[in-house]
Amino acid sequence: MGWTYCVIWFLFWSVSECWQLFNSQRVIRGEVQSPQYPRPYPPNLLKQWDLWVPGGYQIQLSVTHLDIKASWGCHQDSLSVLHDQKVLGKFCGQENSNDHPGKEPILSQGNSLTLIFQTNNSTAELQQHIGFAAIYKAVDVDECSKQDPGSGPLCSQICVNMPGSYHCSCHYGYKLHLDQHTCLLSCDSCIFDKHEGRLSSPGYPDPSPPFLSCKYIISVEPRLTVTLNFTDSFHIESVDAQQGPRCLHHWLQVTIPDREPMKLCGGKSPGLIATNSSIVRLDYHTNNEGLSHGWSLHYSTKAIDCGEPKPLLNGGITFLSGLQNQNRSVVQYHCNEPFYSFSQGTNVYFTCEADGKWRSNHTDVPPTCIPVCGKPTKLISAYQRIIGGREAPDDTIPWQVLLSVDGQRAGGMVIADRWIMTAANVLTYNGNPVLKEDVRIYMGQTDIKTLQNSPLFAASVHVHPGYNNPDFLDFDSNIALIKLQEPITFNSSIMPICLPAEGATYVTGMMGLVSGFGLTDFGRRRLLTNKLKYVQLPVVDQETCTDSITVARRTKDRAPSLTNNMFCAGVPEGGKDSCRGDSGGPFILRDDGRFWAAGIVSWGIDCGRQGTYGVYTKVSNYLDWINQTMQEN
Ligand SMILES: *[C@@H]1O[C@H](CO)[C@@H](O)[C@H](O)[C@H]1NC(C)=O
Ligand SMILES: *[C@@H]1O[C@H](CO)[C@@H](O)[C@H](O)[C@H]1NC(C)=O
Ligand SMILES: *[C@@H]1O[C@H](CO)[C@@H](O)[C@H](O)[C@H]1NC(C)=O
Ligand SMILES: *[C@@H]1O[C@H](CO)[C@@H](O)[C@H](O)[C@H]1NC(C)=O
Ligand SMILES: *[C@@H]1O[C@H](CO)[C@@H](O)[C@H](O)[C@H]1NC(C)=O
Ligand SMILES: *[C@@H]1O[C@H](CO)[C@@H](O)[C@H](O)[C@H]1NC(C)=O
Ligand SMILES: *[C@@H]1O[C@H](CO)[C@@H](O)[C@H](O)[C@H]1NC(C)=O
Ligand SMILES: *[C@@H]1O[C@H](CO)[C@@H](O)[C@H](O)[C@H]1NC(C)=O
Repeated sequence: MGWTYCVIWFLFWSVSECWQLFNSQRVIRGEVQSPQYPRPYPPNLLKQWDLWVPGGYQIQLSVTHLDIKASWGCHQDSLSVLHDQKVLGKFCGQENSNDHPGKEPILSQGNSLTLIFQTNNSTAELQQHIGFAAIYKAVDVDECSKQDPGSGPLCSQICVNMPGSYHCSCHYGYKLHLDQHTCLLSCDSCIFDKHEGRLSSPGYPDPSPPFLSCKYIISVEPRLTVTLNFTDSFHIESVDAQQGPRCLHHWLQVTIPDREPMKLCGGKSPGLIATNSSIVRLDYHTNNEGLSHGWSLHYSTKAIDCGEPKPLLNGGITFLSGLQNQNRSVVQYHCNEPFYSFSQGTNVYFTCEADGKWRSNHTDVPPTCIPVCGKPTKLISAYQRIIGGREAPDDTIPWQVLLSVDGQRAGGMVIADRWIMTAANVLTYNGNPVLKEDVRIYMGQTDIKTLQNSPLFAASVHVHPGYNNPDFLDFDSNIALIKLQEPITFNSSIMPICLPAEGATYVTGMMGLVSGFGLTDFGRRRLLTNKLKYVQLPVVDQETCTDSITVARRTKDRAPSLTNNMFCAGVPEGGKDSCRGDSGGPFILRDDGRFWAAGIVSWGIDCGRQGTYGVYTKVSNYLDWINQTMQEN
């Protein structure tokens, strides 16, 4: 007990000394001698040396000379060698004694060694023993020969010992994991640039080794796209979760530029994956949890080909760049101006994308050309009456339609490429709609002689269901539509008139234009005109018009009534009006440089008579019916 206390006390006392020694010079070799060596050592000694060498080294101690008074078990004078408080040896006597350390040097287990030289008080007077001399040096530890009992070999493959340390290295085809101990199958230097090829997990069809971190890159020319075709035998360890298998420990990740990477795992083959890309990266990852049987795939490539871009009706396509409708070819759509245009914000540039489709702003639907309405290529410079009206120059009223219904002449107007708007009274006979076969439709000319060469035919006629006029006294809902058998292609001589805008207003006094092939004055006689005529007339206040009808009733026993679905136009002095044969024709107003169909010529009390006005169907009241009829037919 006493001795132990003493040693501990001594250790404390000598710490600062040892510290200094170790810090000031890294002792790699040195000598230790007993006090006063080579003269006899003094009695009553307790001397300690703490030797240190850098980590990764051991201390090898060789006692070169030993002369310590011998005693049984060296319990009087002794040289003790300790490591980590464990006694490695206790020596006394001379070179040939039993307790001599011998020729073999002493090796510490670690990088420190403690020497304690102790002498007895009783030897005081006659002591002739010299003591000891020893040399020590740092020797490299061969870590590679050691084995950690718990965790197996330090290096999974090759251990290379180095002075003071060691490092692991791997056989060919493997690489060192980040933990610096484990060798992983090296599978990340593979770039596949052939047009087709086969890839599989390392060791396939054997199960995949753990700790894989494989990278495969398929990279072919940009005009090609890669398709992966996985074989049926596919198995990558997965963890079942509510939303399906989760790729927790093992996975195969497929990365395509500009796309979310896909993580594959589970027992079901992904089959075909069309990547739409010329570059595909696969990362195969495993760890030591679970087991994956692996996967195998064949990849192939094909050229991106979008084919001819879809043609555009009433428009065209211009190739801007690129080759043969392949990857990144760009085309521009355009409409046949000024008769057709795109609606605002329409995408007109389409690019051949990697998925083999022409696309624009994520849409692959080609644009459509919408007819331009109410904008004739030529404008009338001066207005005149129809009764005594003026001949319309070519192309100034391109929506004008001449109808021949069972031989009777009437008017109409083009409102869409398959639709003519006219009055219901034109298309009814004895309360029933006329047969579509009895309707001839003419347009595009201002002279009846040339016009009548090329009639168009009706696919169907649609009389407003509210029109019921057995006695010719009720012209309410005097509106009808004709669907054409073939759509019209618009040009400067045939163009549609715009429908009224939602909530369009009919301002009293606003000048409109009526046109038709109806009756006109030839001297004192009224005849049907063979030239398209037009006249400018103002919108009349509804009350004024009602009053005029009341007045007219005094001289005529029967006259139709004015409803809110009608409006009047004309001049009080008369002389300008629409007339028989004009029925169904357009009364147009102009807003923002566009003409719109405000009215349909409906009825009147004697054409152009003083104090009476022409009455028109108010088109803005029938937008829903027009829209519905056109959509449903
Ligand atoms: C010193 O030697 C004497 C006689 O040989 C012995 O009795 C004593 O125990 C020794 N002291 C120590 C500290 O060993
Ligand atoms: C050793 O001996 C000397 C005198 O011979 C004495 O003074 C001293 O106390 C002794 N020491 C021990 C530890 O016995
Ligand atoms: C298409 O071509 C462009 C360059 O012209 C290239 O960057 C892109 O990767 C190609 N796309 C595909 C899927 O190959
Ligand atoms: C995918 O590979 C299978 C064979 O594993 C083959 O039968 C099939 O035709 C391939 N599919 C395509 C589209 O290449
Ligand atoms: C995509 O849309 C934006 C605005 O919506 C437009 O400026 C751009 O030109 C469009 N791109 C193509 C290719 O049409
Ligand atoms: C490739 O394009 C095709 C056709 O557009 C599409 O079905 C498929 O999902 C695309 N592939 C990828 C990986 O986006
Ligand atoms: C307009 O189209 C019609 C019918 O297709 C055609 O008869 C006429 O000649 C064309 N007019 C012009 C100016 O192109
Ligand atoms: C018809 O109604 C639909 C839906 O209300 C609307 O989107 C469309 O523009 C209308 N078409 C016409 C020609 O008024």
